[in-house]
Amino acid sequence: MKVVTIIGARPQIIKAAAISREIANNYVDRIKEIIVHTGQHYDSNMSEVFFTELNIPRPDYNLNVGSGSHGVQTARMIEGIEEIVLKEQPDYVLLYGDTNSTLAGATAASKLNIPIVHIEAGLRSFNRRMPEEINRIVCDHLSTFLFSPTRTGYDNLVREGFSEENEKTFTPDNPGIFHCGDIMYDNSLHFAQMASSRSTILEDHNLVSDAFVLATIHRDHNTDHEESLTAIFKALMEIAKERKVVLPLHPRTKNKLQELADEDFCKKVIEHEGLLLIPPVSFLDMIALEKNAKMVITDSGGVQKEAYFFNKPCVILRPETEWIEILETGMAKLVSANYDKILETYNTFAADKKVKFPSIFGKGRAAEFICAKLFSN
Ligand code: UD1
Ligand code: UDP
Repeated sequence: MKVVTIIGARPQIIKAAAISREIANNYVDRIKEIIVHTGQHYDSNMSEVFFTELNIPRPDYNLNVGSGSHGVQTARMIEGIEEIVLKEQPDYVLLYGDTNSTLAGATAASKLNIPIVHIEAGLRSFNRRMPEEINRIVCDHLSTFLFSPTRTGYDNLVREGFSEENEKTFTPDNPGIFHCGDIMYDNSLHFAQMASSRSTILEDHNLVSDAFVLATIHRDHNTDHEESLTAIFKALMEIAKERKVVLPLHPRTKNKLQELADEDFCKKVIEHEGLLLIPPVSFLDMIALEKNAKMVITDSGGVQKEAYFFNKPCVILRPETEWIEILETGMAKLVSANYDKILETYNTFAADKKVKFPSIFGKGRAAEFICAKLFSN
């Protein structure tokens, strides 16, 4: 049996590692995985670093589409994926998450009648101004196998008309939905040990456990509006007066800061003593930062969850989240790009000694579940 896996953005490269590992461990004689990198992310620290560090199989194809408007970028990907799928004739196309690479894979594969496997299905923010919400809805409704990391995601699919009956034969007209736990939990457990022994990021930057906050920003609604972007940076600079803030800067954010904020403001951000701006870091370094931070402030989907995996409270720089289970535990709070709310929530979490992180993302065996469903029989 042959599967074509589509990756392109940073988190997808990491997510795919779990399935590739499971195939290598248990299905190597029966399953051939062809990996297609769309080239959506291309800087070495947004792509190459993960293959090298995490020992992920190299892509068999790289479409090198690069950046562009949604239409241009997605169209280039569809064209390239179509050609590869026609040539390879896979039994399934595997897609992850909700990026333009996911949307392109879903469009190309569905038109060629190749069954789609969507990993991270069912998640909804109910905000269609998010490009990711559009990508996930389209991908889910073109998929044959839908694997949801959370119960809420599974219930969303049922509400959208997917049948709960677990029949044996699944087709594009009769898709199957499954609640399987979070594939990134598999990866966080797998790589956490390695991060402890290999990452030197704490020493490199003189960081002391619990004495710093980890922040990431990259959502377009935060980066592409001067008001939101400056409100977030002002809040981070205020926090950084009291506790160091480490901010691995996504290229989008770096570009937008230079483009939107005035020179004086940029200078203040760069020269702020407590604010440590660093280039994007490797996954093992990221895990080391997450494990040792006092708290996480982020608009990233993946980083919200990893904060939870490593028992850290999380200030979410968004008006809503697909990962509502985290909110329900009280260990994360939505604050948007609101200066006052960011500070208020930071202070509450910084003072709170009663932290509690019940298990909500499965047992770290999502890849095992998914591969058994797809490949056993
Ligand atoms: C994309 C995904 C988002 C995901 C994020 C993960 C879409 C619509 N968005 O957002 O869901 O959370 O990846 O990080 O698919 N750039 C570089 N070098 C790179 C990559 C990007 O400089 O290697 C810059 C370019 O200026 C580019 C901008 O970042 O225009 C945005 O990149 P893009 O891939 O379009 O979207 P992300 O914001 O990264
Ligand atoms: N990540 C990383 N280095 C960084 C920032 C993030 O390795 O400098 C990892 C992070 O640990 C998580 C994934 O990238 O596994 C999240 O990607 P991102 O925040 O870009 O996208 P999202 O999850 O919001 O789609």
